[in-house]
Amino acid sequence: MKKIGILTRDCAGINAAIRAVVRMACFYGTEVVGILKGYDGLIDNEVIPLSRRSVSGIINLGGTILKTRRSERFFTKGGQEQAVATIKQNRLEGLIVVGGNGSLAGAHVLARQYNIPIIAIPATIDNDINGVDSAIGVDTAVNVALDALDKIRDTAMSMERVFVVEVMGRDCGYIALEVALAGGCEEVLLPERDFDMEKMCEEISEGNKKGKVSWIIIVAEGKAKASVIGREITARTSLETRVVVLGHIQRGGRPTARDRIMSARLGAYAVRLLQSGKTDICVLLENGKLESLPLKIAVQPKLIEVDSLYKLIKILT
Ligand code: F6P
Repeated sequence: MKKIGILTRDCAGINAAIRAVVRMACFYGTEVVGILKGYDGLIDNEVIPLSRRSVSGIINLGGTILKTRRSERFFTKGGQEQAVATIKQNRLEGLIVVGGNGSLAGAHVLARQYNIPIIAIPATIDNDINGVDSAIGVDTAVNVALDALDKIRDTAMSMERVFVVEVMGRDCGYIALEVALAGGCEEVLLPERDFDMEKMCEEISEGNKKGKVSWIIIVAEGKAKASVIGREITARTSLETRVVVLGHIQRGGRPTARDRIMSARLGAYAVRLLQSGKTDICVLLENGKLESLPLKIAVQPKLIEVDSLYKLIKILT
């Protein structure tokens, strides 16, 4: 292949993936261009050349050097046709898309409907890509949230308060579940599970009568607003409650070793598969081994099994 493009979303580890893609492509003698601002940049022909040198010193940086945004236009026929025109105009023989389910859905459209050779690399803190155990960015997001939680615990214990901490996760409670288990939290509210406010408040009041003085309750953003849960707890238990919304800090930051290693391996593998003529697939690591799966499967909703970890959290609390 003479020339390929790379387009990304943003989360920790994506720059490491860009670096791996560019350097693996250089190894094959393939030129790489970076598409700026996600699918909007593909529509508007905003591309920059990426050399070996231009990706040095980025392996440890969060975000994406290519900038990104959510594109409404790409999901119109006109937007898609303009995107394809950019691909042709720049003589790109293939595209590597790094991102979450929206990005992968876009990649699938380009591959299936417009015959563009595409390999996707899963990268999203939500970890909601079907068939993929862990996406790039998840490990960093969980560790960033855990670090914040440990600090919250210090003040929760000192001030004898209930803290309700909202973590990211639009439709998927993965971050919430992991953080609740790793942080030793008392309760976790997940999009995947029904939740009983009365029961939780009774448990808190019972515990308080027995001398327990602090609680940390994790709420996945897709389930409820932490502020609403916090108000209810105070109203029902009379305990002092504080609310923390961790928000976008979870998506940024220095990528963990695990995310960087995944980015390096998946980035390099994506280039190899593109060179060998593969398309419309997503690369992944399964039990430490490089694998791939069709994008039509990866873009389906992911169902995670939460009950066993939830039970464990409740037993250990
Ligand atoms: O998809 C990743 C994610 O960080 C979600 O957890 C969150 O709901 C959403 O993106 C936030 O989107 P935005 O950055 O556009 O506000």
